[in-house]
Amino acid sequence: MKQRLVIGISGASGAPLAVALLKALKETDIETHVMITNGGQLTLRQECGSDPIAELADVVYDIHDIGAGPASGSFKTMGMIVIPCSMKTVAGIHSGYSDNLLLRAADVTLKERRKLVLVARETPFSTIHLRNLYELSQMGAVIIPPMLSYYQKPESLEEMTHHIVCKVLDQFDIEVPKFHRWEGMT
Ligand SMILES: Cc1cc2nc3c(=O)[nH]c(=O)nc-3n(C[C@H](O)[C@H](O)[C@H](O)COP(=O)(O)O)c2cc1C
Repeated sequence: MKQRLVIGISGASGAPLAVALLKALKETDIETHVMITNGGQLTLRQECGSDPIAELADVVYDIHDIGAGPASGSFKTMGMIVIPCSMKTVAGIHSGYSDNLLLRAADVTLKERRKLVLVARETPFSTIHLRNLYELSQMGAVIIPPMLSYYQKPESLEEMTHHIVCKVLDQFDIEVPKFHRWEGMT
């Protein structure tokens, strides 16, 4: 059976990150199981102009379908990535308030002690955001805000995006071509 990865897309800025992540996963044997919040649908439209997710994902669930596979711990997955992850979704995961499929799948990922990566995006972060993220980190989630980095000398926004996608997939030991790993000063 193919390995499955759950991908949640919520309404923070950064929809192109989700598209780039799914494109990278399309080149692997991993099966992608995707759900998009209503906010995520809005930001996809605003930032990508279209919605390419259906073409890239293996399975796309209705966000309200809390009877879908990823809503149960017996549905085996490698873990879950929420990319981008809004502060509302951070708050929902933090409190265990699972009123949509993304929040329920994240809750399941935590309770099953599987890897949960949150590409949490807001700026500046309020004290509430920072407290929620800090406590989620203590609960085992990996927090990867889409931070800029320059050491790999990116020449375009696409290269910067690619670097963040590589950092996220590295959490699952998924190798992506053209990942500029730091090997010391050149
Ligand atoms: C274009 C746009 C950009 C947004 N960017 C952010 C953001 O970076 N971070 C954030 O927490 N919320 C952002 N929001 C607000 C969220 O979309 C809003 O709080 C929404 O209710 C989140 O719901 P969801 O987590 O269910 O997707 C943005 C909204 C829009 C329309």
